Amino acid sequence: MGLVEFRSFEGSLHPCSNAILSANKYIRKMKGGSQSILVRVNDGRHYVVKLTDNPIGPNLLANEHMGSLVAKAVGLPVAEASGIMISDSFIDGHPDLWFELPTGVRRPNKGMHFGSLFVGQTSGADRPTEYISPSRVGAITNREAFLGMYLLDVWANHQDNRQAIFRRNSTNELEVCFIDHGHMFGGPEWNFQGDQGNPGSALHLELAVYTDLWHDEQVAFWISRFQTIIPDVLTSIAAPMASEWYSGDLNELLSELTDRLLHLPELVHADIEKTWHPSQQKSPDESLRLSDFGIHDLRTPDTRSAFRRGRATA
Ligand SMILES: Nc1ncnc2c1ncn2[C@@H]1O[C@H](COP(=O)(O)OP(=O)(O)O)[C@@H](O)[C@H]1O
Ligand SMILES: [Mg+2]
Repeated sequence: MGLVEFRSFEGSLHPCSNAILSANKYIRKMKGGSQSILVRVNDGRHYVVKLTDNPIGPNLLANEHMGSLVAKAVGLPVAEASGIMISDSFIDGHPDLWFELPTGVRRPNKGMHFGSLFVGQTSGADRPTEYISPSRVGAITNREAFLGMYLLDVWANHQDNRQAIFRRNSTNELEVCFIDHGHMFGGPEWNFQGDQGNPGSALHLELAVYTDLWHDEQVAFWISRFQTIIPDVLTSIAAPMASEWYSGDLNELLSELTDRLLHLPELVHADIEKTWHPSQQKSPDESLRLSDFGIHDLRTPDTRSAFRRGRATA
């Protein structure tokens, strides 16, 4: 096949030797509830692929797709998103990739699935890590992105911890790249009702990454950027989305998200208040997973006292 151009999710044209990206080598299953798989694709690159009928929920792929593209559009570092074709023969040839459920093994469906371009090397010493120690936080060159991602996650009513990959460069500095947007947008069920999940749950587990990031003018900058950019982006990415990637009411979701954008300053304020209110403290076990550094230094003038804790307890 000759060199053709195809239209990616972002609407721009990219040269590619194949119009459709399809998996041609199965590497392994990844950890995590969605039972995603690492594959090599016919563009020669590796992707973590989430399958349409995964055990987590019906809107997971739509969330990954929208989360990746919205975050990218506002300038946050996220893994590149693509649709990846998985064929019947690929699925039949690799029973290891089938879903393992309490009720037994289930065969995934063929079709177009969601791929997240693997950040860094898939093996060897340069393999990226999800773990960051408090002592290495200062080495993250683009650490300010954690503030923007937190604010975006509040807008999107993210229901899970914020996950990130850290890649080391030649001078031993780290670069963060955000992954796993499956629980944005009210979670895989698109639930915006009631108490709306867990305030502060969208923070990264290592709170030290937020140290000294909070500046009111930066917060205002991000919110204004979101309000300017997101409305058009949302419409353009949601309209052509594959129907297999969601089962919820997309129009209802978009209208909820548009409303949340208008009220984002209040939502952020409410999230901070609830997150750091003493009644939200979690069990000692959960607290122990967190560092002694961090969010108490992520300060804002009118809620400063709430952050003044000797120990982070999100
Ligand atoms: N783009 C990526 N680059 C490198 N590793 C990734 C990428 N996306 C996911 N992973 C790895 O795969 C694991 C599972 O992905 P994740 O998106 O967290 O799935 P789940 O929805 O099942 O939690 C992650 O913990 C991470 O180690
Ligand atoms: Mg995950």
